[in-house]
Amino acid sequence: MSPDDICPRPQSLPPLATTPHSPPIYPASVWECESPQQADDMLGGKIAGYVYQRDGHPNADLLAAKCRELHGADRAAITSTGMAALSVPLLALLKSGDHVILGSKLYGKTQVLFRDEGARLGVHVSIVDTCDLAATKAAMKPSTKLLVAETIANPLLQVADIAALAEIAHAGGAKLLVDNTFASPIVCRPLDFGADLVMESLTKTLNGHSDVILGLICGKEELWGRIGPVISAWGFSSSPFDCWLASRGICTAHMRIERGSHHALVAAEYLRSSVQVAEVFYPGLKDHPDHALATKQFSSDLFGTMVSFTLRGGRPAADAFIRGAKDIPFCPSLGELSTTLSHPETTSHRGMTSEQRAALGITGGTIRLSVGTESAGFIREALARGLASVP
Ligand SMILES: Cc1ncc(COP(=O)(O)O)c(C=O)c1O
Repeated sequence: MSPDDICPRPQSLPPLATTPHSPPIYPASVWECESPQQADDMLGGKIAGYVYQRDGHPNADLLAAKCRELHGADRAAITSTGMAALSVPLLALLKSGDHVILGSKLYGKTQVLFRDEGARLGVHVSIVDTCDLAATKAAMKPSTKLLVAETIANPLLQVADIAALAEIAHAGGAKLLVDNTFASPIVCRPLDFGADLVMESLTKTLNGHSDVILGLICGKEELWGRIGPVISAWGFSSSPFDCWLASRGICTAHMRIERGSHHALVAAEYLRSSVQVAEVFYPGLKDHPDHALATKQFSSDLFGTMVSFTLRGGRPAADAFIRGAKDIPFCPSLGELSTTLSHPETTSHRGMTSEQRAALGITGGTIRLSVGTESAGFIREALARGLASVP
């Protein structure tokens, strides 16, 4: 045979007498089908199987199955990014004329998505402090179809009362979507408290190795009919290699998050003892306003890996702290293997005016800490070096 005929011929795997102990990666964009009927049945969802990567692939299904189990969900799907996972309910569940209630402390891009992109589709939004249950109830309209909240809000780590929000949404015929990125299912499972859909940026703690961008959407069977078609038609599907990496990352999520949560409490208590620190925000602290709620909703003794604090000296103090805390990279994301720092004023909340930031309690001196897997002593010493650099 000539190279013309050898090169393009599909390769077959050698016969395998044993099973690989870690899952293979299936990068195939398209699969060989037995017959047009088989392809038709698979593409129509009548039988399980893979035809075209955008419609589904084994690495996404493997990861989705693990996430579905962790969340106790009926169904789960993996998307190309966390933002794609948030776009899915907007496009799958809402139509022109529908109204959405958005938490005022939601991730900035989530607000942009529902408010600006939603407006182009004729969807109206009200932005409400969803920690204020009376205000949330008052914002419900007959046209309200969706309420969106975060389990733990960025950056001051207020906790949403998921059961109460679900009750408000359901009483008005709406659904509750919870962004659980800051908590992860190791700390909180919003579906257990009545949420209808949960999304997470898998980019963060569940993958935990800062090497993929991926999203998760999971929830109740009854809402699932339009989710798969939206992921395929809008092109939100994920890459097999990214799913494979995240399937590896998720294997250690429980250990990383449990350890990080315990050390986050140590860090919060240490920061609180410093005269340079005006305030520390961590739901694991007994005097945090949401501590009792967090205790009820979160897994025992786990309050998450995120801690925020405000330095008395404002922006100059924050700059000096970040320069001085050399062993904690300034890395404006979260949920990494190593502890990282972020500065909301100049990163996650830079699109807001200073008045808007002040209304959320964010100043130039506010710093957000994402606690990784280092020892508590290492983290405390790194924080001490940062504090010692503050004039
Ligand atoms: C709370 C929260 N939700 C959603 C997202 C979006 O996720 P991704 O960056 O994976 O698109 C982020 C990203 O920072 C986030 O912090």
